[in-house]
Amino acid sequence: MPDQPLPSTSLHNPLIPASADRPGDDPIFALHAEATKRARDGEEILNATIGTLCGDDGKIAVLPSVFEAYRRIPPEKAAGYAPISGSAKFLSAVIRDLFGERESARQAVAVATPGGTGAVHHAIVNTLEPGQKLLTSSYYWGPYAILADHTRRGVETFRMFDEKGGLDVAAYEEGLERLVNEQGRALVVLNTPCHNPTGYSLDDDEWAGVVEVTEAMASRAPTSFVLDFAYAKFAPPGQSVWRPHLERLARSTGVFVAWTASKSFAQYGARIGALVGLHPDGEERLRIANALGYSCRGTWSNCNHLGMLAITEVLDDPELRLRSEEEREGLRRLLTERVKVFNRHAKEADLVYPRYEGGFFVTVFTPDARRTSQAMREQGVYVVPVDGAVRVALCATPAHEVPRLVDALAAGVQAAG
Ligand SMILES: Cc1ncc(COP(=O)(O)O)c(C=O)c1O
Repeated sequence: MPDQPLPSTSLHNPLIPASADRPGDDPIFALHAEATKRARDGEEILNATIGTLCGDDGKIAVLPSVFEAYRRIPPEKAAGYAPISGSAKFLSAVIRDLFGERESARQAVAVATPGGTGAVHHAIVNTLEPGQKLLTSSYYWGPYAILADHTRRGVETFRMFDEKGGLDVAAYEEGLERLVNEQGRALVVLNTPCHNPTGYSLDDDEWAGVVEVTEAMASRAPTSFVLDFAYAKFAPPGQSVWRPHLERLARSTGVFVAWTASKSFAQYGARIGALVGLHPDGEERLRIANALGYSCRGTWSNCNHLGMLAITEVLDDPELRLRSEEEREGLRRLLTERVKVFNRHAKEADLVYPRYEGGFFVTVFTPDARRTSQAMREQGVYVVPVDGAVRVALCATPAHEVPRLVDALAAGVQAAG
């Protein structure tokens, strides 16, 4: 090891310029590590940074039915390679999970991916040329930008909320039109219900607006639309409004769903997901399936076979599936209770945040996110600064801690004002 870092011009620096100065740590995981260390050192820390659902005892919540499924998988099956695009049984189970027996299930193709992350990756590399940008909302999950940058694409955003606090469909239209004009093609990535980081879920009217705008653009240039479905199973009841809208959109637009077992089956580490494409034309479906399968081979080859077999078992076995739904419902109720307590206290404290009915996160608006999160850190409360807001992980905050969390948020916003 040299005493001094090598100058970047050194012949002994193997990295290309684009890779030479990458940040070494994910900012959310860095904050989480700091909070964990302080807690280990004996401080009373409230860590609302990380996106895993924890019980009120602070331990990660699991679905016992999933582990029952793991136990059922024969070792010699689990040990072998999974098919490159994923096993046919897994892919049909995912498609059924999304579309049931509807006609759209027959118009769907899918490949297995390591979580929703892999699904978004495959959508980006197959629907945008290098140098082009995807469109997403102004608050968005940071890895979209990393996935885009890493594959030599980029991200463009539209203002997410209008003056009334609803989805800014006019800004969406403007953003999409600009990209269609500049690029001659477009890719939209939208995360709903229970958007990360804001917690926002599109209602029926907002969906209708988005579909209308997207259809109009798709008549001018090839347009794709990815529904990032990461948190959907934790949405409040009645959040299946997306389905008919997406089915209608698929008549004109390349529609994809990024499906993942990370949150819905509390299997964050198993890396099981899928990218599902909808197309009314059989030949186009084959082309899409082939392109996505090629990307699997060109990136991770094949996914975790044991995880895929276990999730297939949970989805396909009626008794296990029912158990998993009941277990998840328990977790959804736990989360909903936290959301209720948060809404009550946050309103009393005059915090400003989007409509929040359920999901892992909410964002609280602040004029200076860094100062707010710094002031909160000093009180031992950890949240994640994003542009114009701080993201609060209710998924990791027991209901009895919510009043402390809200007090710290209120003080943090005031410190930034
Ligand atoms: C908005 C959003 N999309 C997708 C994902 C993908 O997660 P995974 O790759 O674990 O399925 C996450 C995870 O945090 C997320 O927050």
